Order: sequence, then structure tokens, then C-alpha cells
Amino acid sequence: MKNYLVTGGAGFIGSNFVTWLLEHHDDCRVVVYDKLTYAGNLNNLLSHRDDPRYAFVQGDICDAKRVRDTLKTHAIDTIVNFAAETHVDRSLTDAGSFINTDVFGTYVLLEAAKELGLERYHQVSTDEVYGEVLEGAADEQYPIHTRSPYSASKAGGDLMVLAYHTSFGLPVTITRGSNSIGPYQYPEKVVPLFVTNAIDDKPLPIYGDGLQARDYQYVVDHCEGINTVLQKGQIGEIYNLGTGTETRNIDMANLLLELVGKPKSLLQYITDRPGHDRRYALDVSKIRALGWQSRHSFSQALEKTVRWYCDNEWWWREIKNGTRYQAYYQTHYSGREVAPPPEN
Ligand code: NAD
Ligand code: TYD
Repeated sequence: MKNYLVTGGAGFIGSNFVTWLLEHHDDCRVVVYDKLTYAGNLNNLLSHRDDPRYAFVQGDICDAKRVRDTLKTHAIDTIVNFAAETHVDRSLTDAGSFINTDVFGTYVLLEAAKELGLERYHQVSTDEVYGEVLEGAADEQYPIHTRSPYSASKAGGDLMVLAYHTSFGLPVTITRGSNSIGPYQYPEKVVPLFVTNAIDDKPLPIYGDGLQARDYQYVVDHCEGINTVLQKGQIGEIYNLGTGTETRNIDMANLLLELVGKPKSLLQYITDRPGHDRRYALDVSKIRALGWQSRHSFSQALEKTVRWYCDNEWWWREIKNGTRYQAYYQTHYSGREVAPPPEN
């Protein structure tokens, strides 16, 4: 019997991971520990409410006492840490909360894991720590070259995880995943924002020239990759997780409009994000050697994602109709200059 603490388990990838674990392992118990920030949502976990193998604790990973009490009460042996502030755009206006959760919060979890002698601490990290990769692909030895407060905070967390392994022998692993898409992603990230805007015939705001490239992977593939590392990964090691392919934002947006059945006239070019990373690209040979590879191509991932948002308006309308979301959208998008489509 494994007892997991899934921190940030009420967010997008964390909740998909909890579902994946409960569906694939009978011999586990899963405690979700989540602060329920704007991005945390218990609707993501509704289907597990009555499962005796599942429990929810509301708490902040920066709260050392609550973290320790939860680990002890539930006899946790493994922490999988998804908890983070995650949106690059928000990190440009509120870096402090990123440093608190993504760096200090990680330290609090590591200290507790060390003191209680846990079997495993797994850190869910991001390809963004490598910064923009203009040519080729970043393997796990690629230099850290962060460019946004979000990626700098995530890199700080990663370095602390590695330090606890080196200094104290804590049994850690790290995954660095690429941009993920799928059910229950908060509609501030580009794909759920674009699908839900398209359904409502609202503009799709493209930053800059739209030629930035990302490795969009299906969230379930990401979860399976994390599980592969938990089962077969070597202690102290980092594993990249992605499809190893890339898609330009404008191509993603065009395919998405086709899938929703809406016209290209909804595309609206606006002022670029400051410090916008042009391209992310991962070398995924290390995780492939463990037998994992993503099962969905980009177009399959996008198709499934679009279908889920079309079929689950109950989930995202509640968020988008809320005053908190509307205030964010207003502050972030109104007043940004609209430009004609670039000539190319
Ligand atoms: P998300 O923003 O959807 O969810 C984050 C969750 O963490 C929320 O439930 C929130 O309530 C919780 N949380 C935030 N601060 C907390 C705190 N102080 N204490 C406890 N809980 C807290 O994020 P996501 O997209 O699911 O990302 C999960 C993890 O995966 C993050 O660490 C992120 O850096 C990483 N990641 C995400 C992507 C992606 O494309 N979304 C790609 C690679 C890596
Ligand atoms: P995002 O989902 O914020 O992920 P990240 O910045 O962490 O990769 O953005 C993905 C890409 O989409 C990125 O190149 C920025 C771009 N983007 C837009 O063009 N318009 C938008 O409104 C948003 C939110 C993102």
C-alpha cells in the first residue's frame, strides 16, 4: 500500500494525476493537499469524493506545521509536488507569490520529507527552466537559463530539491514537463482560453507574431510520465517529459478554430508578452529509455481537449462568469494594443 500526498492536487495536472493514480493503482491512498488558490478547484476532483482511498486537506505548502501534521496523520510515504503558482503572465505582475510557493514552499516540503524520512519526494517541474531554446533540443544537462519570474522560481525549487538530495541523501526525482493541455485547465492558459473564447465568438488574443513554438502534450501522457519516473526513475535524477515535437501558436490557434468550427476572423494579434520565450524544445531520450513515450500526437491532444471543453461548459462557465476571473481578464487584456496580422 502506497500513501501519496499530492500537493497542488486540486489544480490542472495534479487532479488529472490523482484520477490516473486512483484508476490504475488499487493499492494506494491519495491525500490531496491544496491551498485552493484561484487555480485550485474541488470540481476537478468531484468523482473521487466518495472513494475511501481519497482524502482532501486544505492547506498551504508554506505552512510547515500543517504539512508535517498531514504527513503524520496520513502516514504518507511519497510526496508528489504539483503545488505552484504557474502562470507566466501573472508572474510578471506578482513575482512574490511565485517565490513564496515555488521556492519557499518547496523548501518546507523538503524539510518535512527529510525529518520524517519519507521514501520519495517528487518535484513536478517545467521545461521553462531551460529558457528559450532557439535551436536543437534541451536535454537534462542543458543550462538553466530562466527568463520569467515563473521559470526562475521553478528553477529555484528544482535546485533546492537537488541540494536536499546531495546534502542529506533525500530520495528525490524531478520531471520537467512541456506545456500540457486537457481537461480541467484553468482558462488563463492559452489553449483553454482560446477554446472557451471561440465557443463564445470572442477574439483569440495572439501575443506578438504568433510564431512562438511550444511542445503541447496531452495531460494524461504527462501524468503517465510522472508515474513512470516514480516507478522506474533513478533517485537524484531529472527527466524531461514531452512529445519531442513543436507547434507554433498560430498553427495551434488555426487548428483549434477549425475544431470548434469558428472563423479565422476571431484571431486578434495583440502586444507581445514582455520577455516572451520564443521556443521550447525538449530532448526526451532519457525518459524514453525507461519505456515511456507520449501516446497522443499534438492534433489528437488538441482534439480531445477541445471536445472536453465543448462538452463541459458547466466547469468553465462558473470560472469565467466569476468576478475574480473577469477582473483578471480586464486587467490583463484590455488596453493592449491590437495589431494587424503580420505579413508573411
Ligand atoms: P495549476 O495552476 O492548475 O494548479 C496549481 C495548484 O496548486 C492549484 O490547485 C493551487 O490551488 C495549488 N497551490 C498553489 N499555491 C499553493 C500553496 N502555496 N500551497 C498549496 N497549494 C497551492 O497548475 P498546473 O498547470 O496543474 O501545474 C502543476 C505543476 O506542474 C506546477 O508545478 C507547474 O509548474 C508544473 N508544470 C505545468 C505545466 C503546464 O503546462 N500546465 C507544464 C510543466 C510543468
Ligand atoms: P501559456 O499557456 O501562458 O504557457 P507558457 O507561457 O507557460 O508557455 O502560453 C502558451 C503560449 O501561448 C505562449 O507562447 C504565450 C502564448 N499566448 C498567447 O499568444 N495569447 C494568450 O492570451 C496567452 C495566455 C498565451
